Amino acid sequence: MPAVSESSIVITPVKGEGELMQALAIREVVFIEEQSVPEEMERDEDDAHAHHLLAVDKGHAIGTGRLVPLKAPPEGETGTWGRVGRMAVLQAYRKSGVGSRLLRMLEDEAKSRGMVGIMLHAQLSAMEFYKRHGYEPHGAVFEEAGMPHLEMKRRL
Ligand SMILES: CC(C)(COP(=O)(O)OP(=O)(O)OC[C@H]1O[C@@H](n2cnc3c(N)ncnc32)[C@H](O)[C@@H]1OP(=O)(O)O)[C@@H](O)C(=O)NCCC(=O)NCCS
Repeated sequence: MPAVSESSIVITPVKGEGELMQALAIREVVFIEEQSVPEEMERDEDDAHAHHLLAVDKGHAIGTGRLVPLKAPPEGETGTWGRVGRMAVLQAYRKSGVGSRLLRMLEDEAKSRGMVGIMLHAQLSAMEFYKRHGYEPHGAVFEEAGMPHLEMKRRL
């Protein structure tokens, strides 16, 4: 495992096709290889217009996440909402705060666009992570990409 020094990790919005390819490569490792999500589900049409982040440690891409504006607010909500998704940090870099930084930056971006809340589909294994960031579960557990998920949301 590399020596993870959180301070050496820089997170910036994806600029250009090359950086988007690096973000997709992280997702390939985490979702397609590690979690066996089918490739045709992992890539979707939202990638073309989402706000993507890339976390880089000493020139190596190690994490990503994206924000997509929702066409309509979640049931029972009003205003413009966003959806956070495809949050992925390479295994060796987990539990050192990178995911939290990615999520906070996506929330900041949502606020700067006037969004009033964020909705996401959390894998059950990531539910505690999102709870710690103020997200609350809504509704019943459902299956997506072969794994149990819960809808969670947070007003900003
Ligand atoms: C979910 C994911 C993105 C979180 O990324 P991460 O970089 O590990 O996130 P953080 O380090 O900010 O927080 C993760 C946990 O580590 C803990 N942690 C953070 N900094 C820590 C530190 N310095 N030392 C020890 N633990 C720490 C946090 O408290 C948190 O605990 P929790 O899971 O009980 O809430 C990552 O686990 C991942 O890529 N998982 C696989 C893909 C996935 O499931 N994505 C989510 C789809 S919904």
